[in-house]
Amino acid sequence: PRARGSLPGTERRIGRRLLTLSRPDLVPLSGAFIFLTLAVIGEILVPYYTGKVIDLLKSNFDHRAFLIAIFYMFITSMGSSISAGLRGGLFMFTMYRLNKRVRKLLFSSLVQQEIGFFEATRTGDIASRLSTDTALMSRSIAANVNIFLRSLVKTVGILFFMVSLSWQLTLLIFIESPLTIVLQKLYNKYHMKLVQEVQDSIAKSNQLAGEIVSGIRTVRSFAAENEESELFEEKLQATHQLKNKRDVVTAVYLVCLRHIQLAMQLIMLCAGQHLIRNGKMSSGNLVSFILYQGDFGSYVRTLVHMYSEMTHSVGAAEKVFDYLDRKSTVPTDGKLVKETLKGRVEFQNVSFSYPTRPDIQALKNVSFELKCGEITALVGSSGGGKTTCVNLLERFYQPQSGQILLDGRPIKEYEHKYYHNKLGVVGQEPVLFALSVRENICYGLQNCPMSSVTAATQKANAHKFIERLEHGYDTDVGEAGGQLSAGEKQRIAIARALIRQPQILILDEATSSLDMESEHTVQQALSKDTGQTILVIAHRLKTVEKADKIIVIERGMVMEEGKHEELMERKGCYFRLLQRLSHNGEQGMTEF
Ligand SMILES: Nc1ncnc2c1ncn2[C@@H]1O[C@H](COP(=O)(O)OP(=O)(O)O)[C@@H](O)[C@H]1O
Ligand SMILES: [Mg+2]
Repeated sequence: PRARGSLPGTERRIGRRLLTLSRPDLVPLSGAFIFLTLAVIGEILVPYYTGKVIDLLKSNFDHRAFLIAIFYMFITSMGSSISAGLRGGLFMFTMYRLNKRVRKLLFSSLVQQEIGFFEATRTGDIASRLSTDTALMSRSIAANVNIFLRSLVKTVGILFFMVSLSWQLTLLIFIESPLTIVLQKLYNKYHMKLVQEVQDSIAKSNQLAGEIVSGIRTVRSFAAENEESELFEEKLQATHQLKNKRDVVTAVYLVCLRHIQLAMQLIMLCAGQHLIRNGKMSSGNLVSFILYQGDFGSYVRTLVHMYSEMTHSVGAAEKVFDYLDRKSTVPTDGKLVKETLKGRVEFQNVSFSYPTRPDIQALKNVSFELKCGEITALVGSSGGGKTTCVNLLERFYQPQSGQILLDGRPIKEYEHKYYHNKLGVVGQEPVLFALSVRENICYGLQNCPMSSVTAATQKANAHKFIERLEHGYDTDVGEAGGQLSAGEKQRIAIARALIRQPQILILDEATSSLDMESEHTVQQALSKDTGQTILVIAHRLKTVEKADKIIVIERGMVMEEGKHEELMERKGCYFRLLQRLSHNGEQGMTEF
């Protein structure tokens, strides 16, 4: 990442994008700007009338003029405070709206990303993009622009009044301003750096504390409590020193600032007194001028401060835009929709390595075919690459070479929703959401009549157990389905795949947690369905034996292909696999 504020071009570009993002808030923002101007005008006029009132008190007292001046002062004060309130409210309103919009955009973009992105990015990073950075970024538009503009308009307005009160005194201001600006800039630079260091240091000690608490068993069993406490104290000490440094910097800054201000006021009073004596200025005017001058200094400082604040939030915006602009490397923008899909799947010389482990090939030149209306079994020892084939079929990743065809067309050409409705997958570790049983089964479907839900659950041998649950189909399954047993979860996941009546059904060890009998029922129900292409990754011999074709995958390569009897006769890979496994298993219970 680049150093903050080093590329003004980037900042301008990001600023422009932020403004474009705020376009839907044009109306409230314009309202806010109008009230901002009104408030500022009012605030500028108040010192002017204060000076007037003082002049009126001194000269031969004119009751009428005095009342009028007081009245104007009252009206402007009131008008400006009402406007200030409306301005603040409208800016807040737009800020929250913008925040909501950016978050929605960011989230939509995030869920489009390929699976590899989520494997490579830490959840904490994604969460902080979604919350902290979007908040900072929205602030930059609403709150910062608000303060920035207010200060800018006020600086200009006050300058105008000061010149009209006394241009000679105004010239003196130009001794002060450069001094203040330099001072403020220096302060910002050191202060910001120290603030960041303090935050990092606090984060470090928090991380250490978290690690120790969660690993307390290890700490206890190695009797390392005292060492850990000392380590924690060291971290605290480091934070403490940084904080001291930060506060000393602030103190020095404040002392310098006060001295400049004091010197300025002295010079101002001397020069003012000179002007009054020569009849070039009234004493009321001098009071107004001094009031303005105090304000002027503080607004100039705010402007300088806001400038660095803005670069800070531009940094946050940049991070958010990085995610917003990120294009998935596995795009889901296919268009193809077929009236009738046969469901013939072909792997053609597919080679693939996972993005997080680019040097290890999970699949090497894999070719096979899944015919429609047939059950194909994929077998092989664990880590061989079976699930990887399923992941590629699901388009979680893109193979580095070779291609996967469905009915003769590359799967990436198919329309995303259409494709996933035709492809039913029950994964190795099915994930349910904290919804009701019914909502889980209908996940991602628009309309979903109860009759098709029960049809699916009956096939998955799940209907009976669901009916027995306390609230039947409306039972909440708990976080990640935690309130169900593994076998129950699997059967719901099977029903969830079956309800779409997919042309291609993939069961990746989907019945591993079922007992023999349930598994048998499910298998029976599946084999009754004709015309479907079924791929089972099974771990029980019984299931595999009945398959129309068996494919053996080892170390990412297809080793053998054929029917059970053929492969047994060949006495190759498959035969050895069975032998190895049946060695300590009962007959018929052989598990891969
Ligand atoms: N998400 C992943 N990222 C990196 N490597 C993976 C990932 N998933 C699986 N692998 C690796 O790919 C190889 C094949 O795994 P897999 O297809 O899950 O085997 P199995 O045949 O048991 O289903 C293994 O070496 C595994 O470590
Ligand atoms: Mg697997």
